[in-house]
Amino acid sequence: MKMKNVESSKNYGPIGIFDSGYGGLTILEKIRTELPEYDYIYLGDNARTPYGTRSFEVVYKYTLECVTKLFEMDCHLVVLACNTASAKALRTIQQNDLVKIDPNRRVLGVIRPTVEAVGTMTKSKHIGLLATTGTVQSDSYPLEIDKLHEGIIVTSEACPMWVPLIENNEHRSEGADFFIRKNIENLLQNDPEIDTIMLGCTHYPLLLDKIKSFLPDDIHVISQGDIVAKSLQDYLQRHPEMDERCTKGSSIRYLTTESVEKFASSASIFLNEEIKAEHIDLG
Ligand code: DGL
Repeated sequence: MKMKNVESSKNYGPIGIFDSGYGGLTILEKIRTELPEYDYIYLGDNARTPYGTRSFEVVYKYTLECVTKLFEMDCHLVVLACNTASAKALRTIQQNDLVKIDPNRRVLGVIRPTVEAVGTMTKSKHIGLLATTGTVQSDSYPLEIDKLHEGIIVTSEACPMWVPLIENNEHRSEGADFFIRKNIENLLQNDPEIDTIMLGCTHYPLLLDKIKSFLPDDIHVISQGDIVAKSLQDYLQRHPEMDERCTKGSSIRYLTTESVEKFASSASIFLNEEIKAEHIDLG
C-alpha cells in the first residue's frame, strides 16, 4: 500500500479512537470517563463495516487507511478500539508501518490489555472467548494468553450474528435471544469448566445483560471498556513524552465514512447522548 507522508502535521493533537463501526464507542465512553481532560477523535469506518468476516489483507488495508487518516489529523496516539483490527492489523502496523510513517507515533490495541487482566480472574484456568469470526480465526487471544499466563485453556466461539443484530438495533429482540443462547450453549458444551468469559468484540457490552441471563451466576463475564481505559491511563503515565503530545481540551469529534445522519442516530444506541458526526473520505 502506498504510504502517505504525515510529517507535515503538528507534533501534538487529540487521541484517535478507531473502530470498524460503532462498537468502539463502548470503549471511548469508558476512556472518556477515566481520562476526561484529553481531546479525542473517534473514527468509525461504517461504510465498510463489518470487518469481522473479512480477510487479514482487507482488515489490515482498511485499518491502516483509517490510522493514517487519524495521523493526518494530528493524532499521535491511536487506539484500535476493535478486536478484529487489533487481531489482524495491529502487529503489522506496529512493526512495519510506523517506522515508515513516523516512528514517534503509537498505535495500541485492545487485546493485550484484556489478556493481561484476565489471567488473575480465572480460578478454574478455563476461559471462554466470544468474538467475531475474524478474531476467533486469528487465534490472537489464545496465543497472547499463552505468552502471559501459561496453563490457561481458552475455548473460543465465533458469534457472526451478534454485530449485525446490534447494528440493526435488534439486539433486544427475541430473535437476538435465539442466537445469543445458541452461541453461549455451544461455548459451555465445548468446555464445561469455563469460569470466566471474555467479550472479545467491542460491540458486545450492549449484550451484557442478555449474555449474563443465559449464564450460571458463578461464571464471570469480562467486557473490555474499563480494562482498556485503565491500561491507556497507565500507558500515558509511563510515557510522559506521548502524554505531552496529547492535547487536553476535553473535546470530542465523531468521524464516519458513512452518512452522518445514520451515524448520529445509530450512535445513540451506544451512547446516552445526542452527538454530531462529520463525514470523512479516506481517499
Ligand atoms: N467491533 C469489532 C470488534 O471489536 C467488530 C465489528 C466488526 O465486525 O466490524 O471486533
